[in-house]
Amino acid sequence: MSKETQTEKEAATSTTAHRIGLFTRQPLSTLGKIAFWGFLVATIAATGGAIALTLFAGGSRAIDIFAASLLAATILIVNGIRWLQVIAALVGVSILYQFFTQPFVIESLANPKDASIGGYGHFIGDAVPMGLLIIAFVASVGTVLQNYHLLSRKNPGWFTPFLSTVTGVVVGALFIGALAPTPAPAAPATIAPLQAPQISAGPGVPTSMNMGMANAPISVSQLQTRTTAARVDHFTLTAQPAHLTLGSGITVPAWTFNGTAPGPTLRVRQGDEVVVTLVNHLSFGVTIHWHGVRVANAADGVAGVTQDAVKPGQSYVYRFIPPDAGTYWYHSHQFSFEETVNGLYGMLIVDPATPTLHADVDYSVALHAWDGPDSQTIYTMNTTGGTLNQVARPGQWVRLRIVNTAETPTGNPQLVTLVGAPFQVVSLDGHDLHGPEWLTDTPLPIGSAQRYDLYFQMPSSGSVALVTAGDGQSYVRAPALVIGQGSVPTRLPAVTKWFDLTTYGTPAPDPITPQSHFDATYNIVLGNQMGTSLGRSGMTYTMNGKAFPYTGMIMVKEGQLIKLHFVNQTNLHHPMHLHGHVFTVLDQNGKPLTGSPVHQDTVLVPPHATYDVAFVANNPGIWMLHCHNFLHANWGMDMMVMYDVSTPYTVGSASGNFPD
Ligand code: C2O
Ligand code: CU
Repeated sequence: MSKETQTEKEAATSTTAHRIGLFTRQPLSTLGKIAFWGFLVATIAATGGAIALTLFAGGSRAIDIFAASLLAATILIVNGIRWLQVIAALVGVSILYQFFTQPFVIESLANPKDASIGGYGHFIGDAVPMGLLIIAFVASVGTVLQNYHLLSRKNPGWFTPFLSTVTGVVVGALFIGALAPTPAPAAPATIAPLQAPQISAGPGVPTSMNMGMANAPISVSQLQTRTTAARVDHFTLTAQPAHLTLGSGITVPAWTFNGTAPGPTLRVRQGDEVVVTLVNHLSFGVTIHWHGVRVANAADGVAGVTQDAVKPGQSYVYRFIPPDAGTYWYHSHQFSFEETVNGLYGMLIVDPATPTLHADVDYSVALHAWDGPDSQTIYTMNTTGGTLNQVARPGQWVRLRIVNTAETPTGNPQLVTLVGAPFQVVSLDGHDLHGPEWLTDTPLPIGSAQRYDLYFQMPSSGSVALVTAGDGQSYVRAPALVIGQGSVPTRLPAVTKWFDLTTYGTPAPDPITPQSHFDATYNIVLGNQMGTSLGRSGMTYTMNGKAFPYTGMIMVKEGQLIKLHFVNQTNLHHPMHLHGHVFTVLDQNGKPLTGSPVHQDTVLVPPHATYDVAFVANNPGIWMLHCHNFLHANWGMDMMVMYDVSTPYTVGSASGNFPD
């Protein structure tokens, strides 16, 4: 049909017989006005939201696009040109689609009360624009139909608006029904059950490797705590399976101590004897290693080195006297990668025999990462992926102990910071710093297994929050620890320059300095390369080019001062941990520390950096030195620091002992 004839036909049936061109404007019908106002109000709300997010939370592309589309739809409707109004209806389709398919929108509509996704506030924030959008969308479809009928009927009367409204409602409902994803199932998404860790005998898997010195005068089993203490603290930790609810309806299968992860926080006093009975109700072997505590070697909990993994149904007793106060933790050291990542860990806090720092309240938080449904990683603080609340009154002094128990899959440390109060880092890995400065919003890099103790005073009003940046780029609102009255602040700081332990605090005399006389210095080159480890092929993580159990060892004699020179040749951070001893950090990239002396059991060696540490060999035994990124340890980055000591235990398929 030619344009001429069409125009003539329309003109003939129109009440106002004028020529209709491509750009002939229609007066805005009632439905057009409704659509206009609906889109306009939603536009204003979305633009306000976009501005607020940009100012306070670092921007959101989704909401910018959203606001721009709403504005476009509004303009298209107002111009009154028929075919542009058709486009307006299509833009409306895509806006509704964008909005309805945002998982958080569905979540909040399905669970208006759930505090972990913002509660009623968030629900109203989603429901109001959603309602306006549906009205605007339906009305704009109606407008298109109505305008068509206005031109094609002599006297539209009531029938056309009625018909177009009904059609619009039906189309809108069909559209929403078809496009809206089925709401998140109320039942927790199912995650495959955990597989018992195992390495089967086969090529490349050692059968029976003895890590000790064959004819040594003393065995690890003899290296027990000798002294008796005035007080004895007894605990029982039962390794057992559990399902953990991490908030927001997400449940994961886990292996736990006493049914929770983290397991119970063990609180003891420096110099007390600690007696822990481990009972194993799991279907595979477990141990407990007391991370950072200078225990006697027999209590170190390393499968194949200081004991056999405790078999299903059996139990084992650990006895030790913690010589140093501070924040520590415990975890299984049989298949420590799988077992710790899946929940076999907890915190151990050793109070000083004589208090050094006054705190009105003392909280601890373990940062962990779980494999959730759809292979997403769920970060948690203690037991929640949402907000963890703790109380403190204005003016009170708070000591906050943080441990990173998580595997750090990216090879980067977790970043954490405290929002709402200036704070001091009073200790690292449980060891106090000298003259700590006040920090504000400073990102603290915390490698796997490391600990930070923060100290701060509650402000006269409002709360203080601990937030994390798992990706190292920006802080997120969950998980978060909120201390005091209030919620996570709307405005989170940007990630700025990281805390640097090599310049923090003020100098103080220390028994070990870069000028000390070292009895031996060992170079340890950290590398990664494709290869094989325990019969598996893949990316291996190496020490001096070799993967465990074929890495060399570091021989020491009691009383020696040993220096370790780490050379990181990879693009990843490696939190290097030595059992049973404390490192004094000497320098990074050859630059000695300019602030407080630093003592750690786990040093975070940055990519392509060198790191020098020293320790006094004052605790005889066979001690692991390994990367505490569990994946790296699992794929080779472990070795032994060795006194002249033998062991009756072996690593390999015969015993089933695989420490990492
Ligand atoms: Cu927490 Cu061998 O380590
Ligand atoms: Cu590593």
